[in-house]
Parts: sequence; structure tokens; C-alpha cells
Amino acid sequence: MNTKAGIVGVGSYVPKNIISNFDLEKIMDTSDEWIKTRTGIRERRIVDENEATSDLATKAALNAIKDANLTPEDIDLIIVATITPDMIFPSTACLVQANIKATKAACFDLEAACSGFIYGITVAKQFIESDAYKHVLVIGAEALSRILDYEDRSTAILFGDGAGAVVMGPVSEGGVLSTSLGSDGNGKDYLNIPAGGSKTPASEDSIKNRLHFIKMAGNDVFKFAVRIMQDASVECIESANLEIQDIDYLIPHQANIRIIEASAKRLKLSMDKVYVNLDKYGNMSAASIPVALDEAYREGKIKKGDNIVLVGFGGGLTWGASVVRWSI
Ligand code: ACO
Repeated sequence: MNTKAGIVGVGSYVPKNIISNFDLEKIMDTSDEWIKTRTGIRERRIVDENEATSDLATKAALNAIKDANLTPEDIDLIIVATITPDMIFPSTACLVQANIKATKAACFDLEAACSGFIYGITVAKQFIESDAYKHVLVIGAEALSRILDYEDRSTAILFGDGAGAVVMGPVSEGGVLSTSLGSDGNGKDYLNIPAGGSKTPASEDSIKNRLHFIKMAGNDVFKFAVRIMQDASVECIESANLEIQDIDYLIPHQANIRIIEASAKRLKLSMDKVYVNLDKYGNMSAASIPVALDEAYREGKIKKGDNIVLVGFGGGLTWGASVVRWSI
């Protein structure tokens, strides 16, 4: 029989520090009212001075491994999806490996911005279904507060820090039924950090011009997001041979409540089938979907046998969706 890959454990971790909209009011020209009505966000978590992405990823990973009733030595591969690695190299996945002592695991980071977790589970599926590896740890982890420009109110209010993880492995029922990925590099200017790479290395000028922070064309990303959340969801539902009525729950990327509501409306899916936690965390990029998945699972919103759509979009531009039939 062919091996089928599924999620066998899930976990998450968010840092303790809470920054509310009212806290942001004190440091920039914004208001709780504006942020709540335009985005749905009320507060977000941020790392403290001594915490980095690998620390959040490590805690989420240990929670997911425990949930799967496994030990770190059972993990064959660690994939960390992030745009905020601890450093350019080594990979954050290697740092997590050392922290959790997953001595048998191969490790790499995956960069597809907010779509990174969906890309990660798609890669893991290939390794498991080809019988190359048995257990793959896929982590979405971000310390976005480290790359936010607190002088730019149009981006600083949106993002937060956190990590979510799943262990994927062979399952006898359900599993990842389909995935659908896409990219459009022509949208590279909509969302990026201009400096710090090989094109514009760090210099006095790059620092003076604040080029090491996230830049975003919010309106363009908004329009793209609403369209692509629908298209990607429909594509993966169809390739799983299902229809929208067969979907029990949607876990979308948590960027903006208006994007989520518009996408749900286009999909003709009622909002009580859609998980939202962006009010507590803002947009955690690659961490948003796995943190939401973990919370929805812990709250009993998803049960064994449910068909769940995970869908995200982000810098690149990139997008991805997956239908998962819940197997735990
Ligand atoms: N507080 C108060 N006023 C603000 C703020 C703020 N924080 N930010 C912008 N404004 C002002 C603007 O200056 C503008 O003022 P003006 O009319 O006097 O010029 C007004 O509010 C309206 O600005 P818009 O940009 O048109 O506001 P919009 O309703 O489009 O909301 C937002 C902006 C929230 C950024 C929205 O466009 C959005 O959510 N876009 C998508 C973002 C997203 O999903 N990013 C994903 C990132 S994924 C990744 O890969 C990292």
C-alpha cells in the first residue's frame, strides 16, 4: 500500500510580552480604533531582548513532538519556515536541532514568507510518501518585531512574534489530501526587506535609510490576498476531489480580518467555519497558520475525520493551500 502523509502532532509557543494597540498609541501616530477596524488586531506578542526565532521554534517543536508521543530522536528531518532566521547562516533548523537534540535529523530553512508553512508541509509530504523519511518536523517561526520599523505606522501595527509546529508522519486514515503552491516574482516590490542581502549589504547608508526593515505596499497586497486565498483554496479542494460543502474548517493566514472575511464570502463559507486569532497575535507570517491550527485543535474545533483547508499568501509573492483530513 502507498504511504500517506499526515499530521501526527501539533504544538505552538508565543512569547510572554503583550503589546496592545494602546501601547502602540504611545509611540506612534495611530489609535486602537483605527487598528481594530482596519485590521481586527487588538494586541500582539513580542520577544524579549534575549529571545530569538530559534527559541520560539524550539518550544513549539517540543510541544508538537510530545503531542505526537515521539521523542526528538524519532525526527528524520527539520524544516523551519521563517523570514526572521536567527542569522543568515547556519539555518535556524540546525539551531533547533541542537536545542532539542534531534541527532538523526537533516535540517534546512525554507523561505516563502507567510506561505512558508504550507510550502513546508508540501515538502514534508514528498519525503514521507516517497518513504525517504518517516517523521518530519515542520515549524513556522518568526520574531518579526526584530524587522519592524516603529517609525512606519502602516507596517509596525500589523505583525507579531510566535511559532507553531507539526510532526508529520505516515497515517492510516486521512492525511494531507492535496496541496497547491504558487509564486509570482513580479510582485517582489510589494513586500520586502531591501537591504542586508547580497544586493545591498549592510552599510551606513542602508541603516540611515531604514532599509533593514519590512516595506509593504499594503493596498496591492490586500487585493492580491483576497483573490489568491479564494483561487488557491478552490484549486486544492478540487484536487482533493471535494467540494466546498465538504469542508469542515478553514484555517487562513492571519493577516487582516477584512481579507479573511472577504475570502470566506467569496468561498461561500460561513465565518463560524473559519478560525481567527489575529486579534491576539497580529500577523506572525510563517507562524500564523500552525499557531492557529494548534489553538483550533486544542479548543476542540477540529476533530478526527474533518476536512480542513489551510491557506496562506505572502512576500515573493507566494501562496499555498492544502486540504488536510485530520487524523489525530
Ligand atoms: N494608524 C492610523 N492611520 C493609519 C495607519 C495607522 N497605523 N496606517 C495607515 N494609516 C492611514 C494612512 O496614512 C491613510 O491616511 P490618508 O488617507 O490620510 O492618506 C489611511 O490611514 C488609509 O490608509 P490605507 O493604506 O488605504 O489603509 P487600508 O484600509 O488599506 O489598510 C492595511 C492598510 C491594514 C495595511 C491593509 O492595506 C492591509 O492589511 N494590507 C495587507 C497587508 C498584508 O496582508 N500583509 C501580508 C504580509 S505577508 C508577509 O509575507 C510578511
